[in-house]
Amino acid sequence: MAKKVILAGGSGFLGRSLAEYLLVKGYEVVIFSRGQARQENGIRYVQWDGTHVGEWVREIDGSYAVINFTGKSVNCIYTKKNREEIMRSRLDSVQVLDQAIGQCDHPPQAFVQAGSLAIFGDTTALCDEDAPHGTGFSVEVCQAWEQAFFAQELPATRKVMLRIGFVLGKHGGALEPLMKLVSLNLGGTVGSGRQYISWLHIDDCNEMFLQAMELSQMSGIYNATSPAAVTNREFMAALRKVMNKGWSPPAPAPLVWLGAYLFLQTEPSLALTGRNCVPKRLMDQGFRFQHTDLENALRELIHS
Ligand SMILES: NC(=O)c1ccc[n+]([C@@H]2O[C@H](COP(=O)([O-])OP(=O)(O)OC[C@H]3O[C@@H](n4cnc5c(N)ncnc54)[C@H](OP(=O)(O)O)[C@@H]3O)[C@@H](O)[C@H]2O)c1
Repeated sequence: MAKKVILAGGSGFLGRSLAEYLLVKGYEVVIFSRGQARQENGIRYVQWDGTHVGEWVREIDGSYAVINFTGKSVNCIYTKKNREEIMRSRLDSVQVLDQAIGQCDHPPQAFVQAGSLAIFGDTTALCDEDAPHGTGFSVEVCQAWEQAFFAQELPATRKVMLRIGFVLGKHGGALEPLMKLVSLNLGGTVGSGRQYISWLHIDDCNEMFLQAMELSQMSGIYNATSPAAVTNREFMAALRKVMNKGWSPPAPAPLVWLGAYLFLQTEPSLALTGRNCVPKRLMDQGFRFQHTDLENALRELIHS
């Protein structure tokens, strides 16, 4: 019988991609979503609210692993209401899953949590897992998220948190909007261009989640990013090259602020800040990256 994996909040960009990856590997996949219960493309969707324990606990009992992707997207303007929802959706889902696993007769052997490298704030210093945390709202969210995730030990369930970088994939995430800008000849350097982008190809991201749930030696916190972060200047130049576009005018910070608030309805800091991270623990354990060169990764995603 296929082993069952629960993807909480798995209806989004990372969850849907991992679901397909797991199906190919022979797993049964169940997605917890606030949407309608349904069966779609070999995946069973079970309704939950991400806050209260409900009927869905029965799906977790006897499952092989739980992976949590739940969280309001950070791609929005940080109003008071949005900040609260960004924080609450993450803390509530972690806590309710913990509670649910605690109630199981046959708990899953692994609980894997999607976290974020944003915990390091805005820095050009090289950050491995032990680097100091930054400051600001996104950092506070990440700290509270990690604290909530590791608050309670589950005797039969291993906990792994993957601090994810800037994931590059075909269907969703930040690559599509950037490609749109480049195609409109607006793909110049953003702000100073010196802010780092710790990018990760979606195929490597999926493999990291697979290993996190399968490998019994994995536990605790891991930086989940490619080994070679690049600056925004390098990233935009690589994207323009792969899309056969020439030089584009840079977008200075004030213009980015204006464009982000007025047209894109998002937080300018998402583009103007960055971090230079290394996946030290994954490299130490011999993780084999499929994509370590940005230009090749972009070429593969855009042209194949
Ligand atoms: N994509 C990246 O590059 C990246 C980088 C770093 C960290 N991460 C983190 O990884 C996780 C997954 O990322 P993603 O790109 O797959 O995100 P996503 O596409 O926005 O999916 C997140 C899912 O969470 C659920 N959700 C949204 N708002 C919610 C709320 N208020 N309460 C409960 N559930 C809610 C939604 O599922 P339903 O509507 O079906 O309930 C949604 O499909 C997120 O926590 C994100 O912060 C992602």
